[in-house]
Amino acid sequence: MEKIIPRHVGFIMDGNGRWAKKRGMPRNFGHKKGADNVEKVVSHCFEKGVECISLYAFSTENWGRPEEEVSKIMELFYDFLLKYTKTLTDNGIRLKISGDKTKLSKKLIDLAESREELTKNYKKVLNLAINYGSRQELTSAVNTLIASGKTSVTEEDVKSALYTFDLPDIDLVIRTSGESRLSNFFLWQSAYAELYFTPVLWPDLSSSDIDEAFSWYESRNRRFGKL
Ligand code: FPP
Repeated sequence: MEKIIPRHVGFIMDGNGRWAKKRGMPRNFGHKKGADNVEKVVSHCFEKGVECISLYAFSTENWGRPEEEVSKIMELFYDFLLKYTKTLTDNGIRLKISGDKTKLSKKLIDLAESREELTKNYKKVLNLAINYGSRQELTSAVNTLIASGKTSVTEEDVKSALYTFDLPDIDLVIRTSGESRLSNFFLWQSAYAELYFTPVLWPDLSSSDIDEAFSWYESRNRRFGKL
């Protein structure tokens, strides 16, 4: 039987701080390890046939963290985008940023937008949620629609005003570190997603952990197929 692979996978990358704490290291060390793991996770998913990956990199709530931690995370995004450019172009991966970019540094916005432009015609998608929150996204979508003169809207109208207007719905959400919440992550897009929670901390999430999540997803879908 042909394998059922989720078309769009969302990752809530949680547990970097705890990963570092367990080793007596500062939180930022965990974020660095977390950033290092992004590339491995993303390539494994694309190798398995996933078309679109959404990563919860920074939420609208994450600004509440100490300034030193926020600026380190922003630096990691910058370094990642710089280093990852070749992988994007070599593998035909489109970069997309979802979130309110206005609060990010000009340096980061410029780099992100240049990579979005450079890769805009590729089919596979890496969607990075930075300064993202679903409630902010939906509120902003409603305001956009009101400003366009609409007095009543359809689901299609709402979808068209989301950051992810050009992406398929999320099929599988994987959250690491044992928390079982969506934490404002693509609520509209995950309306029908299977939700998979693993105790593994993000920096430790391995290819075999992902395969396990995909097998679980496949078993869920096989069951529905029989109904
Ligand atoms: C959650 O761990 C992680 C974040 C809020 C930041 C996510 C950032 C990365 C994985 C690194 C960079 C990403 C890219 C795309 C290069 P936490 O700090 O909430 O961990 P804790 O719950 O154990 O404290």
